[in-house]
Amino acid sequence: MVNEFDLNHNTDRIKLKKSEVNPCIYLKKPSVYMTRYIPKAVEILSASCDLTVHKGRAFPSKKDIIKNVSNKDGLLCSLSDVIDNEVIVATKKLRVISSYSVGYDHIDIDTATRYGICVTYTPEVLTETTADLAFTLLLTTARRITEADVLVRSGQWRSGWKYDFMLGSDINGKTLGIIGLGRIGSAVAKRSNGFKMRVLYHDRNRLPIEKEDELAVEYRSLEDLLKESDFVSIHLPLNNDTFHLFNEQKLKLMKPTSYLINTARGSIIDEKALIRALKQKWIAGAGLDVFETEPISRNNLLLKMNNIVLAPHVGSSTTETREKMAEVAAMNLLNVLNGKKPLYEVKS
Ligand code: DGY
Repeated sequence: MVNEFDLNHNTDRIKLKKSEVNPCIYLKKPSVYMTRYIPKAVEILSASCDLTVHKGRAFPSKKDIIKNVSNKDGLLCSLSDVIDNEVIVATKKLRVISSYSVGYDHIDIDTATRYGICVTYTPEVLTETTADLAFTLLLTTARRITEADVLVRSGQWRSGWKYDFMLGSDINGKTLGIIGLGRIGSAVAKRSNGFKMRVLYHDRNRLPIEKEDELAVEYRSLEDLLKESDFVSIHLPLNNDTFHLFNEQKLKLMKPTSYLINTARGSIIDEKALIRALKQKWIAGAGLDVFETEPISRNNLLLKMNNIVLAPHVGSSTTETREKMAEVAAMNLLNVLNGKKPLYEVKS
């Protein structure tokens, strides 16, 4: 079968704009490297691509990725693979980087764009699932559920019901501040309405009044949102503007009774400042699904704290959602290789 792909080993690609790369006819299946074995994506891609799939439990090193992707037409990667300038310049004919994630801070978008490589991602299908996790962290942090679970399991629940035992904080009627009211932030806002919470938001762009009314949210400057909120939930992409946005100064604006929830990216928070905030009680607690270094180091002081709930970056981790992400990631990749528009392209 003749596939419509670019067979050319196009070393001049760097001088071309994406629209100027001529699609040619593929005489054999396009070659694709997958950095993970993702069954649904393998099922979809194996019919029309020559697949090389990284084997083994350990993630591929950067050296492995460079070696395997250098002569491939497509790359399907995950958010823990760093696809930086060094990787991209080592490719000879790569047309598409399809990330199995909504975040794409692990990919050097500028270099990919300069090389005429399309970068795709998997938003929407994971919105509700990630919002569920943000809300789960909010609930479990405020009601101290992980502490309570450990206490019961370890046999330390020794007396009966006591009026001042394991007191947490109310959620209903409290003020939630959402930073970044995109897809996931909006889905969190909708959940909070059911808990009769007042919802404030901050975003680069203020929404039209009708949209604010529909979501029942009020706009605030970042500083005012931090001062007024009982819960602050972060839903921002990681980039130069948001790196360590939550530093000592911002954390000190929050109420001592407030909680910080992060399901976005760890480096949006200066983790050292957060550790001081939790130790010195500038805030009451935190619920974190993401960290500056993943997996978290065993020496990280966050592991020693009680007023915090920790999850291992599982925002989108349900069977249903991961299956949908695999389908979207595979279709994004196939579409580009077939000269069509991907379902979701990262705009540089
Ligand atoms: C992603 O896909 O980028 C998210 O971090 C999932 O939790």
